[in-house]
Amino acid sequence: MPDARNPDWQVIRTSHASALIDSQVTALADLRPTPWIVMAPERTLCWNGQEYRFGPGLGGDIADPAEVIAAARSLATAGADNELWDGIAPVRLHPDAVDIVSSPSLASLRGKAIDCRMCDLCRPATRTVSGEGNPEARIIFVGEQPGDQEDLQGRPFVGPAGQLFDRALKEAGGNRAQAWITNAVKHFKFVPRGNRRIHQKPDATEITACSPWLAAERKVLAPKVTVMLGVTGASAVLGRQVTVSRERSRPIPLADGSIGVVTVHPSYLLRLPDEESKTREYTKFVTDLRMAISALAG
Ligand code: URA
Repeated sequence: MPDARNPDWQVIRTSHASALIDSQVTALADLRPTPWIVMAPERTLCWNGQEYRFGPGLGGDIADPAEVIAAARSLATAGADNELWDGIAPVRLHPDAVDIVSSPSLASLRGKAIDCRMCDLCRPATRTVSGEGNPEARIIFVGEQPGDQEDLQGRPFVGPAGQLFDRALKEAGGNRAQAWITNAVKHFKFVPRGNRRIHQKPDATEITACSPWLAAERKVLAPKVTVMLGVTGASAVLGRQVTVSRERSRPIPLADGSIGVVTVHPSYLLRLPDEESKTREYTKFVTDLRMAISALAG
């Protein structure tokens, strides 16, 4: 039980929004096994040494430390049937599809994604690589999965394919700062070979397991245009098998009334063997991006 006289319990009060709690769960978990309770205005997170529990927030107007301790005590000791917990959906430390899709904001999604255990790819990967960009973006780009550099830096499209993408986007008249960049799968899939990590394509089970993250991102952002970079991004968004060559370069109406555009993945351009096909395919890629950007105006 949290008590001002009991040094085993730490009661931490913060005026930060609960998104902070979400994003700090992993760091806070390092405090184990000491029990603690973090109280934010809209939400409380309690670790009793064995399990996490989210509870109602403290509100903004309790000034007396004794009242804070009293609120912490009643939260920490509240059972599942205590009225304090009524109507509060349990949030697991490892979020499930319902937790993910009900996320109200991109910040909350990012916080939850840190602890993603939706499939086994989370084990060897360094970290979850969440989408990033402008939270007001009207255009979103969906790639396949983070690569080696993305896994190390924790940001999507920052390695060689990302650099090529940035160049093409600029040439098409776009701007990464105004877009949202993400992937169908949020963990790097690889096999180790010597001191290198060789990219592996995610399979259908992994893409499906990861799909709530992309669905939630698109729900919160509600972009006007979704650009699918390559077959994995396209099948994740369209929910079916896709042949890129057949479906690229034209607007595709999406179920939510927005516009989809399928194009190649920039790493396809990097793999092309000769300069002539590289130049030709790069030009087509830029044309697709330009078409997607112009769909924003319609
Ligand atoms: N390839 C992708 O599909 N996504 C990245 O973030 C990087 C490379």
